[in-house]
Amino acid sequence: MSIDVVNYNMPRQEYLSEASENIKKFILEQMRDKHFVHLKPDISLNLIKEYVENKQIDINSFIRSWDDLEIDQYMGDGGKYRKRRYATLSSCVTLGKVKLEEHQPHFQKKHYNGLNGDIARHYKPIKNKIINSEIMKGILYLSHDLFTKLSPIGNWHIETHQFRIEATDNQIGKPTPEGIHRDGVDYVIMLFVNRTNCIGGESAIYDKDKNKLSSFTMKDTFEMVILNDKELFHGVSSISREYKEKKAVRDILVITFRKK
Ligand SMILES: [Fe+2]
Repeated sequence: MSIDVVNYNMPRQEYLSEASENIKKFILEQMRDKHFVHLKPDISLNLIKEYVENKQIDINSFIRSWDDLEIDQYMGDGGKYRKRRYATLSSCVTLGKVKLEEHQPHFQKKHYNGLNGDIARHYKPIKNKIINSEIMKGILYLSHDLFTKLSPIGNWHIETHQFRIEATDNQIGKPTPEGIHRDGVDYVIMLFVNRTNCIGGESAIYDKDKNKLSSFTMKDTFEMVILNDKELFHGVSSISREYKEKKAVRDILVITFRKK
């Protein structure tokens, strides 16, 4: 059984502004040439809004929903520094429709995740209010549109993860505890949500031989990285606290698209 997340079709081309069409063109060129693109927050937020019917999106409740995640109990290193929620979706390239699938465990092969692979991991679902929010629909439709233009044949299996990494007085936080890795999908979108009291958390992109191509520290809400997971590896360095009185927190949304 699957549940419709959305009941409208993809925005038709003529509904997108010329500026958004140009940004989309730039993203697709970068993806074809370099296999990744790093977008400033105002650019990605404006683009997301183009894919939303109701332009009055509730950004604050979207960001606040990261305060209500559950501790990841499956960490192979025993760490309690990661919180998350998870949803599985699918999208149809001919109908241009995204659907929420029945809640299911998250599974990665050990080949892609040496720390936590080959185990069915059960996580709490992303709350209905958030998975059905206009802003999430906008992100999903933008992703679907871009990835379908890059790879038009075959429908998509989509996984959506809300992640919070915390560092406290007795633990550092590891955004990618598996190290430099691929997710084992076709494309990945990382949408930065928030960070407070953090040192570190540098993102890096690598080629197939793990030569570093680019590194940067995501700091701004709606800063976005899109990458081709078949061509590139990625990783994020640990976080620790800037001020010792409170914990460090790093929030991010990760969406993966894999051909069915
Ligand atoms: Fe990853």
